[in-house]
Amino acid sequence: YMPKICVITGDGIGKEVVPETLRVLNEVHDFEYIEAHAGYECFKRCGESIPESTIQTAKNSDSILFGSVTTPKPTELKNKPYRSPILTLRQELDLYANIRPTYNFKDLDFVIIRENTECLYVKREYYDEINEVAIAERIISKKGSERIIKFAFEYARLNNRKKVSCIHKANVLRVTDGLFLEIFEKIAKLYENFGISSNDYLIDATAMYLIKNPYMFDVMVTTNLFGDILSDEAAGLIGGLGMSPSANIGDNLGLFEPVHGSAPDIAGKGISNPIATILSASMMLDHLKMNKKAEIIRNAVKKTINNGYLTPDLGGSLKTSEVVNKVIEFIRDE
Ligand code: NAI
Ligand code: MG
Repeated sequence: YMPKICVITGDGIGKEVVPETLRVLNEVHDFEYIEAHAGYECFKRCGESIPESTIQTAKNSDSILFGSVTTPKPTELKNKPYRSPILTLRQELDLYANIRPTYNFKDLDFVIIRENTECLYVKREYYDEINEVAIAERIISKKGSERIIKFAFEYARLNNRKKVSCIHKANVLRVTDGLFLEIFEKIAKLYENFGISSNDYLIDATAMYLIKNPYMFDVMVTTNLFGDILSDEAAGLIGGLGMSPSANIGDNLGLFEPVHGSAPDIAGKGISNPIATILSASMMLDHLKMNKKAEIIRNAVKKTINNGYLTPDLGGSLKTSEVVNKVIEFIRDE
């Protein structure tokens, strides 16, 4: 069957890495691509960072492939309202699970599963004029915690992972993270039968362990802000943002995007690293239950990297399209 893919290239290098990734996808399957617009350039063109039509196209597709968008500076906006396209899509499509794998095609291989809708990102911030304090509410719900923790254990089960670690700060945040940890322990018990073990670590210790011994992790599940920070730290272990894919998953739909932004410093030069987006597309294939095809792409990427066909961010001298040509050659060699 021909899945419908909503393609949002966005701004900057998004317009380079996404079309290059479609060349790779076309090697393994026929898709129907529907282009939709979002981002700062879209805003400048049509007055909206994410038009309603884009949200509808996304809702009516089987998956969304997203490049990257530029966030304008407040001075550029002159008080015009600006919605973050990616946050809007996460909310509108209820993409509650953010999956960030970290692997280096050699020995390191773990996954961070981050809750994507709650915590401090509900943006309930206000300034108390009388007491002169800025306050932010941190929301951790029972339902939100249950679904992300279940998601993490199901992910472990389906991907033959052996351990799920809960990352939290329940020693200080007794109510919010206390709830998250309590639910984690309950759900963990149910998965012992599947041979999946569990444990928990404090967020601060985890930040240190990730540098000292990242091999100790398998699947991590955590709340929104901790997950945001840890997953960027993890990207630093494997050669940076050009290598880091991600998925935002809801009960039906998935949105797949590289972790990096629009990289204005290198946009237009044809030297952006396409690997993060190609690996994100392979996660899309997994989500569409085309696991073999996903694996073919990952294998080709592995050979491309291990044979030294690299863009400048990884110390190489190849252009984006030349790296993609190599990936395609390795796919055809399979
Ligand atoms: P960035 O990820 O765009 O770039 C950070 C550094 O990494 C730059 O030196 C860039 O050249 C390099 N880099 C990133 N991706 C690369 C790739 N594929 N190949 C080679 N080098 C790569 O983050 P930055 O500079 O903080 O933000 C730039 C813009 O992107 C901002 O407007 C920011 O708001 C936006 N942004 C958007 C995101 C998204 O669309 N999900 C995520 C992060 C930032
Ligand atoms: Mg981030």
